[in-house]
Amino acid sequence: MTGKKIAVLATGGTLAGKAASAADNIGYTAAQLGVEELLAAIPALHGAPLVTEQVAQVDSKDMSFELWRQLALRCAHYLAQEDVAGLVITHGTDTLEETAYFLHAVLAPAKPVVLTCAMRPATALAPDGPQNIADALAIAAAEGAHGVVAVCAGTIHGAWDVAKQHTYRLDAFTSGDAGPIGYVEEGRLRLVRPWPTAAVGAQAALQKWTAAKRWPRVEIVMNYAGAGAEVVEALVAQGIDGIVAAATGNGTLHHDLEAALLAAQARGVKVVRSTRCAQGRVLSPAGAGLPDSGGLAPVKARIALMLELLA
Ligand code: SIN
Repeated sequence: MTGKKIAVLATGGTLAGKAASAADNIGYTAAQLGVEELLAAIPALHGAPLVTEQVAQVDSKDMSFELWRQLALRCAHYLAQEDVAGLVITHGTDTLEETAYFLHAVLAPAKPVVLTCAMRPATALAPDGPQNIADALAIAAAEGAHGVVAVCAGTIHGAWDVAKQHTYRLDAFTSGDAGPIGYVEEGRLRLVRPWPTAAVGAQAALQKWTAAKRWPRVEIVMNYAGAGAEVVEALVAQGIDGIVAAATGNGTLHHDLEAALLAAQARGVKVVRSTRCAQGRVLSPAGAGLPDSGGLAPVKARIALMLELLA
């Protein structure tokens, strides 16, 4: 630890979840324990300089744009404090990658912002939350650490790459082709590639997000066997602002769906082509009718498109 404070911002998740029995890892209610109770479960931290805030108490499947607004503002507040070395955000695993990407896009932090989580509730026989929090605190205090990252199961993932890949295992996250940024081993950092590069225009993006009277509506439409025009036509009729196509393979779309997306684009709806493949990116041929997502997975391409539409 550097002697500076770490700000711990709690938002809920399984990490703060409770089940009726220690044998039950799945039949729990998320977001039950407060931040002080979470930290009390980590004896090694007693005496460490922490400042804590319960920003929310939600199951992250219920994450909202308003909550992102509040969280981003609290992060900006603590990042601006000279005596704060870094931030830890406790979060549910289900939408962690979206919050991580959003914060990356609006904060561009010169300090570490470390999201952490758990796959088992706090009441489990062997909960993973306390170790993940301890690891996240170690990274938030690590010399030279910066940018928005996620720490889970001893692995550090960058906000751009991180994705939940497993429904049950403790090591539930991947960084795909990019690989992790590093590892946390006995509280020590082992860096294997550079910390994330700050997002361009983050400050303006934060201002626009926080000032918005209405966030742009962007939906994800998936390609699959038998996909048609109907969903896109319904969205256009409702006045949708943007659509991310979770295309098959290298950006392929059923010809009926593609025609509907091109028609939507011609009517002024912003359309971006991503892929439903868990790995790889869409490599567009020259003159492609629909722009690709620049390597962003559909859920993150949606956030990027919302921010673009706000701008
Ligand atoms: C949540 O995302 O809040 C619940 C599931 C989890 O944290 O694993």
